[in-house]
Amino acid sequence: MDRLEPRVPRPKRAFSTLGGPVDTGGEARAAALLRGLFDVDPAAARALTHGFHSYAGRMHPSIARGAIAAWSAPGDTVVDPFCGSGTVLVEALAAGRAAIGVDASPLATAIARVRTTVLGADGRERLVEEAARIAEESGDRARRRKRPEVPQWARNEITRFHAHVLYELLGLRELVFMTGEDDVGRALRLCLSSILVKFMRTGPEAPRDGETKRIARGVPSRMLADRAAELARGLAALERRAPEGTPAPRVADGDARELPVDARRAALVVSSPPYAGTYDYAAQHAVRFAWLGLSARSFRRAQMGARSGGVGEASGDDWGADQRRFVAEIARVLRPGGHALLVVGDGVVDGRPEHAPDAIAEAGAPVGLEPVARASQARPIRDRRLAAIFAAQPRREHLLLLRRRG
Ligand SMILES: C[S@@+](CC[C@H](N)C(=O)[O-])C[C@H]1O[C@@H](n2cnc3c(N)ncnc32)[C@H](O)[C@@H]1O
Repeated sequence: MDRLEPRVPRPKRAFSTLGGPVDTGGEARAAALLRGLFDVDPAAARALTHGFHSYAGRMHPSIARGAIAAWSAPGDTVVDPFCGSGTVLVEALAAGRAAIGVDASPLATAIARVRTTVLGADGRERLVEEAARIAEESGDRARRRKRPEVPQWARNEITRFHAHVLYELLGLRELVFMTGEDDVGRALRLCLSSILVKFMRTGPEAPRDGETKRIARGVPSRMLADRAAELARGLAALERRAPEGTPAPRVADGDARELPVDARRAALVVSSPPYAGTYDYAAQHAVRFAWLGLSARSFRRAQMGARSGGVGEASGDDWGADQRRFVAEIARVLRPGGHALLVVGDGVVDGRPEHAPDAIAEAGAPVGLEPVARASQARPIRDRRLAAIFAAQPRREHLLLLRRRG
């Protein structure tokens, strides 16, 4: 939602009204619980630190919350091997579970850390004050039309932003990067990353009216301060919700095919793995990588199932092998009797649709991960090529519940 627009409260609406009927299978009680998870609470999407930073393919917090309540107990460990921006970790912390998140993208882990490091009252106050100070200085520079030096890496950014917006954002970045790399400094960097796309004219994350929107001098600076204040409020709410003694979530840069997690550590895995051939997370977030000074090189090699160009261009051999490896890792880190709740979408491999529940069940059988139940719902398709591939059958998103054999 654009923070420049007035906020319009939306009514509580079931996800299922967007995607049509929900079809279930497997054990009746578990299937009914899964069906209920599709009835998401829209308010949850902005609660705690969930609204802080956009991220492609985010899980709805309601789904994470419901799964954690249903299949784990306070004090248990919940693992998300594809933690992305940290939705599952936030909900686990709020529910008094120890949480471990892993992602191959350094952007993902940076966001997840900021969203789950509560900072304490002093830290939050420092965050808000620092952001206000930076915003004032940067806004003042922008109104006096003082241009910062344009670093080498940013030479092409003029194609993405109007010139005066680019100069103001670069000035902001300069000030933000002058703060230390402690928890507050990391939060400020992510505040900058979170507002960038609001001002983009072009690119995969640009707002639809990006090309035409007029942005006054000083607006980006003000937005940085607002975003820091919003983050501080979310972190305070998270700190209030987390039961005393809950450990801080551990966020690790790593590969889901080789999880840096002990065997049998988790009571529950909650995760949404990449959907085969649908996204390219490195390309999708390229601007944030550049502005945060992060390298996407090793992530490009590690990311699984990515479309190499157009939608559907994932190789079946690679994807099949990758899927077997990450499913085996989920089985390894689960304790016997533990559950995995996976949010998976039908993907496209070698240009053909892949029915995700069958593929996961096939990969889970040899490693003792058994399907318990599923709930499935059709998803609208906007991409023309994808629509052609799924012409004969709907493309669906599934909530899959699996259990580690005892
Ligand atoms: C659907 S997103 C997860 C979003 C997350 N649930 C959230 O709410 O933000 C899938 C994630 O898988 C990550 N990923 C892709 N390949 C990976 C790999 N080999 N190991 C770990 N993570 C990987 C991507 O970086 C992306 O963050």
